[in-house]
Amino acid sequence: MSKAANNILQQEVDKRRTFAIISHPDAGKTTLTEKLLLFGGAIRLAGTVKARKASKHATSDWMEIEKQRGISVTSSVMQFDYLDHRINILDTPGHQDFSEDTYRTLTAADSAVMLIDVAKGVEAQTIKLFQVCAKRGIPIFTFINKLDREGQSPFDLMEELENVLGIRSVPMNWPIGTGRDLCGVYDRMKNQVELFQGDDHSTIKVQKVESYKDPIIREMAGEYLHEQLCQELELLDVAGDPFDMEKVQRGELTPIFFGSAINNFGVQTFLENFLELAPKPEPRSSTAGEIEPTNEKFSGYVFKIQANMNPAHRDRIAFLRIVSGKFERGMSVKHNRVGKEIKLSQPQQFLAQDRDIVEEAYAGDIIGLFDPGIFRIGDSLSQGSEVVFDELPTFSPEIFAKVTVKNALKHKQYQKGIDQLTEEGTIQVFNTVSFDETILGVVGQLQFEVFEYRMKGEYGVDVQLQRMPYQFARWIVDENLDPSKFRINSALVKDKKGNYVVLFENEYAMRTAIDKNPTAKFLETAP
Ligand code: G4P
Repeated sequence: MSKAANNILQQEVDKRRTFAIISHPDAGKTTLTEKLLLFGGAIRLAGTVKARKASKHATSDWMEIEKQRGISVTSSVMQFDYLDHRINILDTPGHQDFSEDTYRTLTAADSAVMLIDVAKGVEAQTIKLFQVCAKRGIPIFTFINKLDREGQSPFDLMEELENVLGIRSVPMNWPIGTGRDLCGVYDRMKNQVELFQGDDHSTIKVQKVESYKDPIIREMAGEYLHEQLCQELELLDVAGDPFDMEKVQRGELTPIFFGSAINNFGVQTFLENFLELAPKPEPRSSTAGEIEPTNEKFSGYVFKIQANMNPAHRDRIAFLRIVSGKFERGMSVKHNRVGKEIKLSQPQQFLAQDRDIVEEAYAGDIIGLFDPGIFRIGDSLSQGSEVVFDELPTFSPEIFAKVTVKNALKHKQYQKGIDQLTEEGTIQVFNTVSFDETILGVVGQLQFEVFEYRMKGEYGVDVQLQRMPYQFARWIVDENLDPSKFRINSALVKDKKGNYVVLFENEYAMRTAIDKNPTAKFLETAP
């Protein structure tokens, strides 16, 4: 590769930021995403993303599932440019769409933005998503939202992050007043004040100051609020963690930003700071060693497969995260699992509701490949020598059901449907050790509905699902496995690859089993 081409590759990688926003429903993810897209000029009107979300949850009949899936897919990746950066936001569906896909999508992100409602603090779905990110050790940035409302004190929230998530935090800015009294924030890194102005808080004034003690702040915010600000920041200076970029990079310290997405308050400074601090695409490990994003040979892996993007065509789209090199439309690459060359001719990129054809893309970008049924989750594609990226983790399902076919003559189609939907990652399949029962496991209830609906619609098979009382699955590694031990409030089953898995009805049963089997390993993801 020529030096000039290499420079271009380096520049393209340096400007990319690929991240996911993780939050509990209603924290304001749609609102924040929309503001970010507005800054990037990717959408022109506020309300565009929101309107889609509203239509998405308007009704819940069967056709709506199709529509919902279409919609949740077109918003799966949003790409826009801002201040010399190319930004890819990966959507992590919440609400009833929550699924294993949500977890897998996080494996394609280089960092995460954790969005928290100032009044509600750390909520259930945030904890789960945080844990997936923490396991990967990616940097996590925190945005405390809805500061215009009454909420918890910033100190309490920092304590909650530490107690519930086990992560220390460093405030990048600090609110001046809260709730109805909120008049602005003090930027601790840049020593500047951002003030709300006007009754609707629609304009923002930015003022450089010497320090938070600067009398200008007193003039702007009043004596009481300035006094409070000084006391709080003095405490933070003495007792808080200093900003430490290395700890942020290792995911041990989260920079916190305070703001209000709906008022666009603190969003722009958050975005600008985030772009400065967030990592560019990093190398990924593979059978051929670490693959650098600037490696001249194109490579990438499939992290998500989505069916029915367009119900009229019944096509599947494989989402590929580019790890290295330059992607060009029409290029030939090696599909390493099947050992064949394939031509990537109809790649798509996603922005808001449109599906655009991609001509070129670089490490960090996500492209959608038309899939006539040749891809599986975790497949690696590469140019030149064979590169196979580390397998994607299989996440522990939380809801289980026994599945039976209503018409035994349809068994062949049933098996085909199960195989296909397992490949797409819609469901996980387990068999009882005696193989007389098939148990499905999912992370979100909607996946069962999608499973039933698609089995009927695409394979002509009526299935019956019977919910089972299990809530936890653990892959068990034990040299002296004794199946008779797992009968009370639990069941021993096998996954698709023949690994043993124990399903537990409750946490107590799981704890007891772990205590009673000290030599066995109980894993949350497949070995
Ligand atoms: P989600 O995608 O995380 O589920 O949240 P979404 O953005 O839809 O926001 C959930 C609710 O919180 C919305 O209100 C939204 O307007 C509101 N919200 C978002 N950011 C802020 C903020 O900074 N301050 C305040 N006060 N509210 C905020 P809603 O009543 O459910 O919907 P809508 O009637 O506003 O559309």
